[in-house]
Amino acid sequence: MTILITGGAGFIGSNFVLDWFKHSDEPVVNLDALTYAGNLENLASLKGNTRHTFVQGDICDRALLDQLLAQHKPRAIVHFAAESHVDRSIHGPGAFMRTNVEGTFALLEAARAYWVGLEAEAKAAFRFHHVSTDEVYGSLKPTDPPFAETNPYEPNSPYSASKAASDHLVRAWHHTYGLPVVTTNCSNNYGPYHFPEKLIPLMIVNALAGKPLPVYGDGQQIRDWLYVTDHCSGIRAVLAGGRLGETYNIGGWNEKANIDIVRTVCALLDELRPSSEGSYSRLITYVADRPGHDRRYAIDARKIERELGWRPAETFETGIRKTVQWYLDNPEWVARVQSGAYREWLDTQYGAKA
Ligand code: NAD
Ligand code: TYD
Repeated sequence: MTILITGGAGFIGSNFVLDWFKHSDEPVVNLDALTYAGNLENLASLKGNTRHTFVQGDICDRALLDQLLAQHKPRAIVHFAAESHVDRSIHGPGAFMRTNVEGTFALLEAARAYWVGLEAEAKAAFRFHHVSTDEVYGSLKPTDPPFAETNPYEPNSPYSASKAASDHLVRAWHHTYGLPVVTTNCSNNYGPYHFPEKLIPLMIVNALAGKPLPVYGDGQQIRDWLYVTDHCSGIRAVLAGGRLGETYNIGGWNEKANIDIVRTVCALLDELRPSSEGSYSRLITYVADRPGHDRRYAIDARKIERELGWRPAETFETGIRKTVQWYLDNPEWVARVQSGAYREWLDTQYGAKA
């Protein structure tokens, strides 16, 4: 038995692969294009682990997908690969349409061609797990109930529109062709290996460098934060027991305003790495708002709890403390990601294979 992961060198994908091997001996084939967001250094602890096969390649490359499926015969595909940053999608939506929409289409078609050729038992057991986001549901008003799986799709950014499109493709491939799919829509993740263009890692690394902490607009936008290993356990639960064709929302029951997140990060740094120049909160700087900025996301995670018994293990307080501590403990990772030097590390670690 083997599973095929896409995007397993990114933030959530690499956490998922590391978490997988804590719970399973089952081999993982990890397909990742190593865009700016992919970093094999995240997987350095797997060096020498013959159950992890890394393949650098593009999910839009149908011939490569066909070859990998024929060669490794996975019992499941877990699809993380995506362009994932809203701000980048505003500046350049093209890459998001290509990877998130065309790439998911290519993967679905390759999966379908592979799946129809399987023996009955393997065919029935096969799963295509699509990893998606709560942002497909749009923006909530302050008194709206959190997003349930039945909420209409109302994506507002090029990123969320491309993810919504991919969710629709996955749904259609189930209804039309019978492909055994499950989809998870998760809230904002945070934790180790988070690329420092996203809110929490950006605030940590900027604060430590004495740089401004840019808060968009009034800082009162709300996100529902989930520690990344809780997302991984949610995906494992749905992969193992989710009902075919169903979607499951995954969230941490942690609605926080951005400014409160930034203040919490500053307070933890004040405690763990005090600055001689005073509290890090002096660096908070309000900047122009993001165009079309969604005001509030929140997840109703009762379905996955009711059907599969999943609940997050971390509270926000335990998760954010671990996260800040991880960045303090891993300055080399941050420095290499920022300088782009981690690309040289690929040759060092994997040589010609990377
Ligand atoms: P990320 O940007 O950190 O990583 C994406 C990975 O995909 C990178 O390793 C990149 O190299 C790879 N990739 C990009 N284009 C590719 C292509 N064409 N072919 C192969 N690989 C390619 O993203 P992330 O934050 O780890 O998100 C992973 C998934 O989870 C995405 O589908 C995202 O939409 C979803 N998600 C993210 C969050 C969050 O808070 N980060 C929340 C909910 C859902
Ligand atoms: P982000 O981490 O980009 O995730 P998403 O846009 O997918 O929710 O941003 C989280 C929130 O933080 C979002 O409301 C935008 C805000 N934000 C800032 O205020 N300043 C920043 O520098 C960044 C990157 C984000």
